[in-house]
Amino acid sequence: MLGRVNHVAIAVPDLAAATAAYRDTLGATVSAPQALPEHGVTVVFVELPNTKIELLQPLGTESPIAAFLDKNPSGGMHHICYEVGDILAARDQLTQRGARVLGSGEPKIGAHGKPVLFLHPKDFFGTLIELEQV
Ligand code: CO
Repeated sequence: MLGRVNHVAIAVPDLAAATAAYRDTLGATVSAPQALPEHGVTVVFVELPNTKIELLQPLGTESPIAAFLDKNPSGGMHHICYEVGDILAARDQLTQRGARVLGSGEPKIGAHGKPVLFLHPKDFFGTLIELEQV
């Protein structure tokens, strides 16, 4: 079912500081910040040879990462995104196998314009999993 790792998302309290750390300390290629109000985040993409890292900072009052940062004030790994070929088939297989899909269970259009779903972190060892159809 799982394909490549599409990205790893890291929630950060200070996007400018996190971007500088990846760019200047780690020597990575980073994008300009992009506000995604429909997702409640501002994101910077860190481009790596085999995948990307997304640095996420809350945007607006309803940000889905605000509670995470309340519990992890210095930031932390928020989710890992795996690619799947058919997101509805993946969802149906996963729910048959006892995994819980967050929200309505219907895919939403994610930050990359492709359908995504999230799986309950308690079913996967404390890690929030995003599935993205590619
Ligand atoms: Co993501």
